[in-house]
Amino acid sequence: MQATRGELSFYSIVEPELRELERRLKDVGRGGHPTFQEAVTHLFSSSGKLLRPTLVFLAARFGPGHDRQVILNLAESLELVHTASLVHDDIVDRADLRRNVPTVNATWSDDVALIIGDYLFAKAYALAAVLPKPEVIAIVAQTVFALCDGELEEVIADAGLPSEREYFERIELKTASLYAACCQGGAILADADPEHVAALGAFGTSLGLAFQITDDVLDLVGHEDEFGKTVGRDLAEGMATLPMIYAAEERPELAPRFVATQKAADEVRELLRAVRATDGVERARKRALALHDDATRALDGLPARVEREALLEIADFVVSRVR
Ligand code: FPP
Ligand code: MG
Repeated sequence: MQATRGELSFYSIVEPELRELERRLKDVGRGGHPTFQEAVTHLFSSSGKLLRPTLVFLAARFGPGHDRQVILNLAESLELVHTASLVHDDIVDRADLRRNVPTVNATWSDDVALIIGDYLFAKAYALAAVLPKPEVIAIVAQTVFALCDGELEEVIADAGLPSEREYFERIELKTASLYAACCQGGAILADADPEHVAALGAFGTSLGLAFQITDDVLDLVGHEDEFGKTVGRDLAEGMATLPMIYAAEERPELAPRFVATQKAADEVRELLRAVRATDGVERARKRALALHDDATRALDGLPARVEREALLEIADFVVSRVR
């Protein structure tokens, strides 16, 4: 079973903000097309981990500024960017399960999911547009560019296996950029010291990389009920990830089979067995753990407060499933 919010102490200090955020998210569809309202209910009734807004709230505690509604606007905006990008990504990946519920594309259709993602993204930008600091609005826009660059790179990549460097460039764009934006944006809005903003940004980047590698490991060795997504999806779609890149160093003949698209279920099962028999998964786990250590070191210069402890716990949580 996935841990619930109540069991994880890092959520507790920002619980009032998270409750308010959840209320706001459930309300996002208000006044919109009935199908948009239904999709919003569908998406936000099984709440995700809300890690990104939690990072915004915690980072904002490192500055003297305390405008709660402004911080909530950023947290909601970035959570909506994240949700919009997942709705679109599930079309691209032909995924039918996320957070243990059917995806928007599987429930309605690809066409509907495309427009629901657009709606969410427009809502996100409407919230960002009223933020009081232009540099934070720019961070939101830059993050969307980065997400698009990362996703596009993945979609148009040539048929071969990417190098380790190419993999890292891609996950920095598609995942780590958003984690960094949450940490930096929250701290800037709260008028935190520029050194602390930079430290939080570095923390977010390493945390995001560790998160994505962990996700890619779980796609190969996770249990579906805990993972909330179909295991083996990356292999099925020919999406090469770090454990596969390492596995192919050991067994180069697997590389073309990893990247072949739309595989049959038997082939996916066989490749899952093959990749699990190499050191690829273990090496990828170690990289995630090293990035966890980079993330925690980045916090050394921050004042020793309960919020810093909470960020350290988030780093542990992100990689706990690969320990
Ligand atoms: C999930 O990756 C996908 C992303 C983190 C980024 C997706 C970005 C876009 C679709 C472009 C941006 C679009 C908007 C509207 C802002 P994954 O497939 O590795 O993870 P998964 O297993 O959770 O699907
Ligand atoms: Mg995906």
